Amino acid sequence: MSEKVSFMCDNEHSDDRQNIGAREAVVERIHRIVKDYHFDMKELRESADTLKRLSELPEFDIARDKLPFAPELFDYQAEFVRSRARFSAFIGGVRSGKTFAGAVKGLNRGFLLPTTGAVIAPTSGMARDVLVPQYAELAEGRIAKWNASTGDLFLDNGSKILFRSADNPERLMGLTLDWFHLDEAAQLPRRVWEVLVNRTISTGGPGFLTTTPRGKNWLYRLVESWKDDPDAQIFTAKTADNPLIDPEEIDRARRQLDARYFRQQFEASWESDSLRVYEDFSPELHVLDEPWQIRDNWPIYIGIDFGWTHPSAIIWAQLSPDGRWFVFDELVEQHLRLETIAGAILGDTVSIQSRSFRARVPYSRVERVISGAEGLQSRQEAGGESALSALSAMGITRVAISRSGILSGINAVRAKLLTAESEIRLRFDPRCRRVIDDIAGYGYQQDDGGAPAGELPLKDGIHDHSMDALRYMIESVTPLKLAQWRFG
Ligand SMILES: Nc1ncnc2c1ncn2[C@@H]1O[C@H](COP(=O)(O)OP(=O)(O)OP(=O)(O)O)[C@@H](O)[C@H]1O
Ligand SMILES: [Mg+2]
Repeated sequence: MSEKVSFMCDNEHSDDRQNIGAREAVVERIHRIVKDYHFDMKELRESADTLKRLSELPEFDIARDKLPFAPELFDYQAEFVRSRARFSAFIGGVRSGKTFAGAVKGLNRGFLLPTTGAVIAPTSGMARDVLVPQYAELAEGRIAKWNASTGDLFLDNGSKILFRSADNPERLMGLTLDWFHLDEAAQLPRRVWEVLVNRTISTGGPGFLTTTPRGKNWLYRLVESWKDDPDAQIFTAKTADNPLIDPEEIDRARRQLDARYFRQQFEASWESDSLRVYEDFSPELHVLDEPWQIRDNWPIYIGIDFGWTHPSAIIWAQLSPDGRWFVFDELVEQHLRLETIAGAILGDTVSIQSRSFRARVPYSRVERVISGAEGLQSRQEAGGESALSALSAMGITRVAISRSGILSGINAVRAKLLTAESEIRLRFDPRCRRVIDDIAGYGYQQDDGGAPAGELPLKDGIHDHSMDALRYMIESVTPLKLAQWRFG
């Protein structure tokens, strides 16, 4: 038995050596091809395919071989970089070396084979100021070309590394990727993860993320589900594990910060999130498995928050006779003109940037359109008219105004998310991804120590608009208020 094992191992090693030789020859050929300014893409593709085949032979194990690209790593970083799992996560405290490790892992893929990878940051500022410089610094001397407007890097072996932000996940849709890296993934919407996994299905390429935790959000649940997934691996590190960080600095933070926030930020712990406005919301409980089937006789309401540079948010929901809400349609976009908003409410097909939108129900099915008091303020782009009077001129007259304060609106929504009897009375169609992301990400302002500052939610210009529309609607539609409404 043991003889057989050693025989197999020997065999494997000699295969390895042959493979390495063959691989080096192909790598050399690729270098020659890309050095020519007008290189032949077809030839490059063929060589890349050969190289990929050689590297995919099971005997060839890059973890045993020298990494193609290996600066000095701390042990905990090296484990993450060397992981060959399809999906991997490095969950670390602030300054623990997450971005560094992620960039080494990404470049490692880039230098191994001519590939296309994507690196995603929560904002374009973070992509530009943190990720591009980190990748570029580590790849120094081996960068063939750099796109100054996007930050995209072209390595000297023909690999491309694209830098994108999560501002618009749909913009990632067209790419075919061999690998991807999400930095500060806990700050990204879940949609980004889904889109990128989709973009690597055909290549089977790895996806990895580097992040500090941020409450028990979607990422927490994803990483939890990896614990019994053979294709996924999780690595963790505290800030104190980075030998370059002065321990005194960590002690100071421990003394100054809220204990829970310290554990999250410095010890990479998944703390439940006192900073979320709707802590009871969870996709498992509140998002329907199937699209909502609109019921014939139940009333439908629209909640609307008017924006311009910040998005306008319009959401459609149906209310059951026993008081359960089902949010089934949404339109959340910047720069929506009042004509477009009116068209959307009326049920027309309206075009918005590069897509078209048509509500699932016409206006004739809508009981009321409910706005906040800002719907009555005069608007510059409507020639001084208010949004609601402009809409009324376009036929939208069944309107109500929510006049109660933000806190009572939030309490009304909370009471539907989980009633005192532990019932759920507010659910979302799975296609209403924006509202679902917003309700999960709607947070309080934080003070310097990370504790909630004040009792009002953060107006971050991202999550607050659809949340305003939601609370206007839910807070206003109560039996008492319905009795007081008069049709306009
Ligand atoms: N293996 C390493 N060798 C040398 N320096 C390193 C290494 N890993 C990380 N560093 C340095 O440690 C510091 C923190 O690293 P990095 O920015 O990657 O951490 P981070 O966890 O992403 O931090 P943040 O929470 O600020 O995003 C940086 O100055 C980085 O250059
Ligand atoms: Mg970082």
